[in-house]
Amino acid sequence: MAGFYAVYHGQEGITTIASRIHSITVFLEKQLKKCGYTQVNAQYFDTLRFELPEHVSAQQIRTIALTKEVNLRYYENGNVGFSIDETTDVAAANVLLSIFAIAAGKDYQKVDDIPERSNIDKDLKRTTPFLTHEVFSKYHTETEMMRYIKRLDRKDISLAQSMISLGSCTMKLNAAAEMLPLSRPEFMGMHPLVPEDQAEGYRELIKNLSEDLKVITGFAGVSLQPNSGAAGEYAGLRVIRTYLESIGQGHRNKVLIPASAHGTNPASAIQAGFVTVTCACDEQGNVEMADLRVKAEENKDELAALMITYPSTHGIFETEIKEICEIIHACGAQVYMDGANMNAQVGLTNPGFIGADVCHLNLHKTFASPHGGGGPGVGPICVAEHLVPFLPGHGIFGNSQNQVSAAPFGSAGILPITYGYIRMMGAEGLTQATKIAILNANYLATCLKDTYGVVYRGANGFVGHEMILECRKVHEEAGISENDIAKRLMDYGYHAPTLSFPVHGTLMIEPTESESLAELDNFVDVMLNIWKEIQEVKNGEADKDDNVLINAPHPEYEIVSDRWEHSYTREKAAYPIESVRDNKFWINVARVDNTLGDRKLLPTRYGTFE
Ligand SMILES: Cc1ncc(COP(=O)(O)O)c(C=O)c1O
Repeated sequence: MAGFYAVYHGQEGITTIASRIHSITVFLEKQLKKCGYTQVNAQYFDTLRFELPEHVSAQQIRTIALTKEVNLRYYENGNVGFSIDETTDVAAANVLLSIFAIAAGKDYQKVDDIPERSNIDKDLKRTTPFLTHEVFSKYHTETEMMRYIKRLDRKDISLAQSMISLGSCTMKLNAAAEMLPLSRPEFMGMHPLVPEDQAEGYRELIKNLSEDLKVITGFAGVSLQPNSGAAGEYAGLRVIRTYLESIGQGHRNKVLIPASAHGTNPASAIQAGFVTVTCACDEQGNVEMADLRVKAEENKDELAALMITYPSTHGIFETEIKEICEIIHACGAQVYMDGANMNAQVGLTNPGFIGADVCHLNLHKTFASPHGGGGPGVGPICVAEHLVPFLPGHGIFGNSQNQVSAAPFGSAGILPITYGYIRMMGAEGLTQATKIAILNANYLATCLKDTYGVVYRGANGFVGHEMILECRKVHEEAGISENDIAKRLMDYGYHAPTLSFPVHGTLMIEPTESESLAELDNFVDVMLNIWKEIQEVKNGEADKDDNVLINAPHPEYEIVSDRWEHSYTREKAAYPIESVRDNKFWINVARVDNTLGDRKLLPTRYGTFE
C-alpha cells in the first residue's frame, strides 16, 4: 500500500501533499495564536501542541471537539494538540479553528483557501531529489495506476491462481471478509497516539482477541507486541531470561534446539544472548530421545530452555512431546514451543496442555492474516502463569521491560483480520479447519506415496498438517532434482512447495484447509504427470540433457519463439495436460539460477545481475 502510494504520487506529488499539510498546520498555528493559545513545539511539520489560555480548560475543548466528532490529543500537563494529514482539507481546518475559538470565546473567520506557507528552518529542508527511479514518474493517473497494478499482479502466481503448498509457510486463504477492515476508515483512521479512552473499539478488540488466544493456546497471558514469528521467539526468550533472573537462575544461558528446527530458532536464541546446543533427530525425523536426555543432563545446570516445534518441522506429531517437556522441566529449564504449526493444534490440543511455558503464534499463518513481504505480521507470544509478570511492557504505559516493538500492540492495524477470522469461525469452525488441514495433507500423502514416497510418518502411520515428499530417489535414478520438479510445477500453473527444507532433496507440501478436493485432485494429477515425465527420462524415452524438467519453466517468449531446438514439442512443454489449457499461467522468466539469484539482489531486465 505504501509502495503504491509513493508510485502514484512520485516526488512531485508527495512534496505537494507535504507542503499542503504543512501550510494548513502553519495557518492553524497562526489563527490559534490570535485566539490566545501558545504553540510549544519548537519545530513542527504537521503536529501542534498548545498551552491553553488561563480561562480555557482542556475539558471545555474536549466537550466542544466531541460534538464535532474530532479527536484531539490531551497531554498530562493540560496541553492540547493535533496532527494534520493529507486528508485534512480546508473545511476540516475550519472545524479545528472553530473548536479552539469557541472554547476561548473568540470570533473566528471561516476561510475558503489556505495559502502555501512554510515555517520550517532552512537548514532542515531537504534539497536532494528522492524517488528518482522511473517507476515513480510513470503512473500518475488512476487508469495508468490500475493497469500497472494489474500488470504486476499478472506476473505473480498467487492463491488466486492455484494452491500454494509451501510447507511450514501455511499459505491459507486470507478471506475477503477478514480483510475488509483494512480498507475501512473506522479501523484504519486511527492515529497511533490517540488517547486510550478514544480507542475503546480497538481496546475491546485487543482484549477479546487476547482472551481468545489464551483459550486457544491454554496459557494465562499474551503480548501482541512482536511483529513476526521470529520476533516472538526473541521476545519469548527474553521473557524466559527475565523469569530465570527473578528466581536466581540468571546464569542459565544454554538453549537446546532439535536439528529439525526452523532456522529462526537458533538465530533468535543467539540474538537473545544464549548459546545453542543441537539435539539429534532419529530416522523417523523425531527428536532422538536418548540424545535429548544426554544433552539435557550434560547441560543441566546451564540449561535455560528447549525450543521445539509441534508438530515438528518434519510435519509429525511427536508422541513423546509431553515427556520431552517433563525432561526439560526436571532440569529447571523452560519449554519454548514454536507455534508456527499451530494450525495443526487449534481445537485439538494446545501448548499449555502439552506442558510448554511459552509459545509464539504466527497470525500470518494459522490466523489468516497475509504474510506480506516478511511483515508487518504479528507474532504474539502466549505464556504460562509464572511468566506473565515478565511479558513485554511498553514505555507509554510506564514499563518498558522486554519491549520488542515501537508500538505497544505491535501491528495493531491488522489485528481485526485475525479477530474476524476467529469470531467468524467460532470454536467449532476452528477445530474443523485443523481437522481438514490434517486430512488434506494425509490425502496428498496417500495419493503420492507409491510414486515419490513420503519421507516421515508419525507413530500411527499418518502425517500431520504437512508432509515431506521424497525426491532423492528420483535424482539418483533419473538425474532429476527436487529443484527441477519445483520449476516444472510452474509450467502446470503451480507455485513450488517448500524446496529442500527441512530435508535436502525433498519438497515439503502443506495444502492447508483452504483447498477443495477438486484442487487437491488436480495437484495430484499434475504431480503424477510430472512423475511420468521423470520416468521418460529414467527409461531413455526423453533426452537426459534436454527434457521438459531440466529446462522448466517455459515462458511464453520461448514457446512462441521462431527458434525451438528442443527434442520435445512446444505443446508438451506448455500444455502437458488438458486442465492446464483452462487455467494457463505464463511464467515471466525462464529458469533462474536460485543461488545466483539469492546472492545478486538486483536482477536487471536484460537477464544479467547487478
Ligand atoms: C517453524 C517456524 N518457526 C518460526 C518461523 C518464523 O516465523 P516468521 O516468518 O513469522 O518470522 C517460521 C516461518 O516460516 C517457521 O516455519
